Amino acid sequence: MSTDTNAPSPGHRPPADVVFRDLDESDIPAVEDLYRSMNEHDAYMRFFGARPKHLHTVAAYTCRRLEGSYALGAFRGERLLGIANYIRGPRPQTRPHPDVEIAITVDHSVQARGIGTGLLEHLVAHARSAGIRWLTAEILAENSLMIGVLRDIGLTHELHLDGTTMTLEIDLHAGDLDDSACV
Ligand SMILES: CC(C)(COP(=O)(O)OP(=O)(O)OC[C@H]1O[C@@H](n2cnc3c(N)ncnc32)[C@H](O)[C@@H]1OP(=O)(O)O)[C@@H](O)C(=O)NCCC(=O)NCCS
Repeated sequence: MSTDTNAPSPGHRPPADVVFRDLDESDIPAVEDLYRSMNEHDAYMRFFGARPKHLHTVAAYTCRRLEGSYALGAFRGERLLGIANYIRGPRPQTRPHPDVEIAITVDHSVQARGIGTGLLEHLVAHARSAGIRWLTAEILAENSLMIGVLRDIGLTHELHLDGTTMTLEIDLHAGDLDDSACV
């Protein structure tokens, strides 16, 4: 199924005091804390099941700076409010391009303020500057919030539904984002 989502962004911007910056190994404890503080629903949406037991390992995996991987955080002062990252996987046999899978988490207490959209915009800008053409988002079909965030930034994507899981293939060459958002 193919969907053209070049709709204009609704214009929600993150609060002016929220700063976006790259994450590195020094941020692992804050990332672990954010994953630990997620409520059950958000953890289910992010991890597709129960929250992983070894959150330190997951946080370290998120923050590692390997070629093809990238993570950024949204901060208010020292407080980490949200995380977005992409990780390059092996080239799937069904597609000509490698899987570069994205994930986003925003602290529940500050959701619906444009922070998830801001994180996604910065992530896309970074991926473009790294020469990445396609991003993949694996999300639960019931995750209307994440689907809305992806829809709102107005990028063209292909959508595949497999039971309860959706895979969105996002084409970074076809969107209309402002590259000046790059971190
Ligand atoms: C999905 C998720 C990342 C979205 O983060 P968020 O910060 O709430 O996202 P935004 O605030 O940018 O957008 C969410 C909604 O709030 C609206 N919004 C944003 N700023 C707003 C504002 N100032 N006033 C009113 N509404 C606003 C957006 O328009 C959007 O609604 P829409 O989709 O109906 O248009 C967050 O819900 C989350 O962490 N969920 C749990 C983990 C998860 O599901 N991750 C995705 C799978 S990896």
